[in-house]
Amino acid sequence: MSAAIQLPGHPFVAYRGHALHTEDVALDALADQYGTPLFVYSKASMLSALAAYQRGFAGRSAQICYAMKANSSLGVLQVFADAGCGFDIVSGGELDRVVAAGGDVRKVIFSGVGKTRAEMHQALAAGIGCFNIESEAELEVLSGVATGMGLRAPVSIRVNPNVDPKTHPYISTGLKGNKFGVAHEDALRIYQHAASLPGLRVVGIDCHIGSQITETTPYLEAMDRVLDLVASIEAAGIPIEHIDFGGGLGINYNNDTPPEADALWLQLLAKLDQRGYSGKKLMIEPGRSLVGNAGVCLTEVLYVKPGEQKNFCIIDAAMNDLPRPAMYQAFHAIVPLSDKAGNTPTVTYDVVGPVCESGDWIGRDRVLDVAAGTRLAVLSAGAYCMSMASNYNTRGRAAEVLVDGKAAHLIRQRENSQDQMRHEQLVG
Ligand code: LLP
Repeated sequence: MSAAIQLPGHPFVAYRGHALHTEDVALDALADQYGTPLFVYSKASMLSALAAYQRGFAGRSAQICYAMKANSSLGVLQVFADAGCGFDIVSGGELDRVVAAGGDVRKVIFSGVGKTRAEMHQALAAGIGCFNIESEAELEVLSGVATGMGLRAPVSIRVNPNVDPKTHPYISTGLKGNKFGVAHEDALRIYQHAASLPGLRVVGIDCHIGSQITETTPYLEAMDRVLDLVASIEAAGIPIEHIDFGGGLGINYNNDTPPEADALWLQLLAKLDQRGYSGKKLMIEPGRSLVGNAGVCLTEVLYVKPGEQKNFCIIDAAMNDLPRPAMYQAFHAIVPLSDKAGNTPTVTYDVVGPVCESGDWIGRDRVLDVAAGTRLAVLSAGAYCMSMASNYNTRGRAAEVLVDGKAAHLIRQRENSQDQMRHEQLVG
């Protein structure tokens, strides 16, 4: 067999003997068996991304809480639960998934600006680790719910550090104009309010500045701002047990060069040491960087349609499966499952799906060698694809496979029309 040709940013996806593989499994064979569109994830890739964080935190008190909004499929959650991770959740539904996947609810942190009373009740009854509170109004409501249950809710307050993460505006979360967290200048007062409420127990501080961050400076700035607050909150007599520090580390979609997780944390931990906070427990909530480049979406070309201005390559995956290009003009690399043709592709296509929207494109101006029936892989599809998939155009959501070495496990069956109509009824 010829040497494997690795794809940039995808350490566990490679061409071997002209056939694209995830770990030791040929992707063409999976497409034969399960059809397309099909998401395929590498377990080794997820664990290796996790290991970079674990190396970074070696010898420290730290808890990694996988932000499951990135990919909340049970088979994916199971990988992280078995590896000892906690979970960052944003709904009661996500908590149900943690339980179903065998996760430890005590390691769950509950983020999000709009928790309902019912969700608070559910999370308190389950005994989650911490609520990340996003507004003063939410503090009062949580205190009331907890008091009613005879409990005290463990809380962190999400502080908005007003740091520019230099990412897409839709996925920046720590700027003043964003809906998340409380303003830096109000934080101390709100902590004092929290400490006075009977149903709350202040345990930490939380900050998150955005997603797909590829530079180190915004993190360092945000850490400084958070440590300033820790100092003033503790000086006011409110001990802070942990710092939940985020800003989702980017992945390589298109020659992006984010820092490695361990290298980033080396710098952040140095800052903690420098400022006298070496002993503080750390919590992090990574999502995309743990799963994004573990996944590919396999698809088949349905039609090739030459046009006056553009050539279109129409595939069987669409914006309902891969919403990121339509939502954020995001780039996902697209490669053939087999490179045996040996022809250097020369024709430029817009790669589009079957959904009736001009926004239904997956890749623009891609040079490809394709015909009807050619199979392609859309890369970097492990994060924010299946978890944001929809049934638009009554398209069933794709199937999912988890690869572990030579083994391939179906972790989600393809959804059919009956599945989609299950909760609907005719009138009368
Ligand atoms: N924690 C909080 C409070 C968050 O808001 C987020 C992401 C995360 C953790 C996880 O961040 P990550 O490590 O995945 O960057 N749908 C968008 C991304 C939205 C991210 C929102 N918050 C996309 O496809 O790019």
